[in-house]
Amino acid sequence: VKPESVSLCPLGMAAAPKQELLCIFGTGDLGRTLGQCLLQTGYRVVYGSRRPHSCGPLPQGAQVMSHEAAAQSASLVFVCIHRHNYGFLETLAPGLKGKVLVDVSNNLRKDLYPEANAEYLQSLIPGAHVVKAFNTLSAWALQNGPSDANRQVYLCGNNAEAKQAVSEIASKLSFSVLDRGSLSAARQLEDFPLQLFPEWRLPLRLAVGLTAFFFFYLLIRDIISAYVEEGKDISFRIMVSLANKVFPIVSLIMLTLCYLPGVMAAFIQLYRGTKYKRFPDWLDRWMLCRKQLGLLALGFASLHVLYTLIIPIRYYVRFRLSAATISEIRENRTSKFDTTMAWRTDSYYSVGVLGFGLYLLLGITSLPSVSNALSWREFSFIQSKLGYLTLFICTFHTYLYGWDKFLRVSSYKWYTPPGYMLCLVLPSVVLVLKMLLLLPCVDRSLTRIRQGWEKTDPG
Ligand code: HEM
Repeated sequence: VKPESVSLCPLGMAAAPKQELLCIFGTGDLGRTLGQCLLQTGYRVVYGSRRPHSCGPLPQGAQVMSHEAAAQSASLVFVCIHRHNYGFLETLAPGLKGKVLVDVSNNLRKDLYPEANAEYLQSLIPGAHVVKAFNTLSAWALQNGPSDANRQVYLCGNNAEAKQAVSEIASKLSFSVLDRGSLSAARQLEDFPLQLFPEWRLPLRLAVGLTAFFFFYLLIRDIISAYVEEGKDISFRIMVSLANKVFPIVSLIMLTLCYLPGVMAAFIQLYRGTKYKRFPDWLDRWMLCRKQLGLLALGFASLHVLYTLIIPIRYYVRFRLSAATISEIRENRTSKFDTTMAWRTDSYYSVGVLGFGLYLLLGITSLPSVSNALSWREFSFIQSKLGYLTLFICTFHTYLYGWDKFLRVSSYKWYTPPGYMLCLVLPSVVLVLKMLLLLPCVDRSLTRIRQGWEKTDPG
């Protein structure tokens, strides 16, 4: 019996499907890099240029033609040219009818033009389907690919099929697509790259404000007061002692500010008896910048740890130590070992180290690469339960540092409390409120509200 046979043909002889041809207007950095990526992904690329014969080096394998000819050969055109050069596109309008035009442009600043670039392009060529996309990626980000840069491509447009075509290309380039709706969202997309750390603005302002406040407060209270009352110049303390007070104080307050909005939100929900009413805008905004607040607080705590490490090598500390030893030898006197002091210092160092360890854990788990690897339950366990524990331990470290000084009248120079006492107010209040929320009856009501139960209005 003749064995069943199949006809074999050598690899590569089979007719390969014809790759899709895409057109790019513009041979600048972005146009060239985009072309290179598209060629690597398997597309054919044709450039449209004003000077097809002298437009500089282009990716290998790409063709270059006049704008008219290039546009005619492809159904999708990436417009990689500046808005102020769009004018000439109007003359190509008949040839671009029905084509998908991808507007990748950005502006140098906000509100430079009355309408979004993509809307302007659409008004120049009403017969085309304009899609705004890829503008949040730089040539650099495209070159490095999504593994090393921003993964997201935002897009918007009025035609669903056109958006689908562009989103297929973005997916093939391994970017994830976020559809922002119709072309009226283009302005918002064009503003994205102009934003300068928007979510960091409030936390940074707070950090600067708190640092300035505590710096001047402690400068007057600790250094100027010593000069006025005793004529002592201890201004050198500004550099290390003062810094090592201001940084941990600001850190503790900012850590507290990460947890205060959550506690406030819980009380608002309990008061309203529902989870379906929106929180006030300021509370929403505050909640959204908790990660940045926490990371800045961690930065300040790290400075505190570094400043603490250099305490033993300070000239002032070494001088005081040797002077005390010499005077003991001279007076033939030995100071007694103070067990309480040993307990006190060891306790607040140890609790400080524990607090800092947990602080680091919170910081690391808030990084996207780590938090993406955690389930929601794991993430919220670390950020909430361990977060409150960190706040508790850091607050405890500060109480231990104060020890019995809270009750001494001499601590309140010029009737003002030391900085660490002042900074303990907010964390203590937040921890007490959190404990109230953990009371079984309160916790039960809150859980019910968060599961959708609503207080019925007697009226
Ligand atoms: C004060 C050690 C972590 C908050 C101090 C002091 C020391 C110290 C030696 C006294 C400084 C002085 O004499 O002026 C440590 C060590 C830590 C640590 C070894 C961990 C490795 C933290 C953390 C926080 C914190 C994570 C939380 C924000 C404070 C505060 C003070 C203080 C608020 C009082 C500052 C003042 O007004 O003098 N700590 N600390 N510490 N620490 Fe820490």
